[in-house]
Amino acid sequence: MKYIASILLVVSLLSCRQKPAQKLADESAPAATVKMEKLHPATTVHPGKKVYDQYCKVCHQQEGQGISGVFPPLTPNRFVRDKAQFIDLVLNGMKGEIELDGESYNGVMLPHKQLSDQQIADVISYVRSSFGNELEGVTKDEVEAARQN
Ligand code: HEC
Repeated sequence: MKYIASILLVVSLLSCRQKPAQKLADESAPAATVKMEKLHPATTVHPGKKVYDQYCKVCHQQEGQGISGVFPPLTPNRFVRDKAQFIDLVLNGMKGEIELDGESYNGVMLPHKQLSDQQIADVISYVRSSFGNELEGVTKDEVEAARQN
């Protein structure tokens, strides 16, 4: 019984050993295909998320929750809801005391005029459909019109 068991073990070890080499040679193409498929969902991420992560997240945080008393949250509130004001504050910045969810904030947000109309439309649309917000998006044309005012 012991003999048979160890023979089986040796046989299975040997067959295991050979497989990886064969696999590499035979299946390199399908493996690459699988990798491409895995990457694919990344392209469906909201275009505004990229802008958010680069230009807003550092203050308003990953989930838009902000930092209490320092950076206000982007969860449903009157600024996020008011499309025209939202566009204006991203373009021109914002300062002065405000109160949100019982916390007061008195900071300065710098203008983000350097972003393109498309980037601003994307990031506002992203915020307005994330963090518990379910509001319609903003178009590039709306940002362009606001920039000219
Ligand atoms: C350097 C930190 C900083 C960055 C970066 C920043 N903000 Fe702000 N943001 C603030 C502060 C501070 C206020 C509050 C200003 C005040 O007290 O009047 C604010 C206010 C706001 C408000 C209105 C209040 C609220 O919480 O709803 C919105 C909306 C907003 N920011 C969105 C954005 C978006 C979108 C971006 C990226 C394009 C961004 N912010 C980038 C610091 C920042």
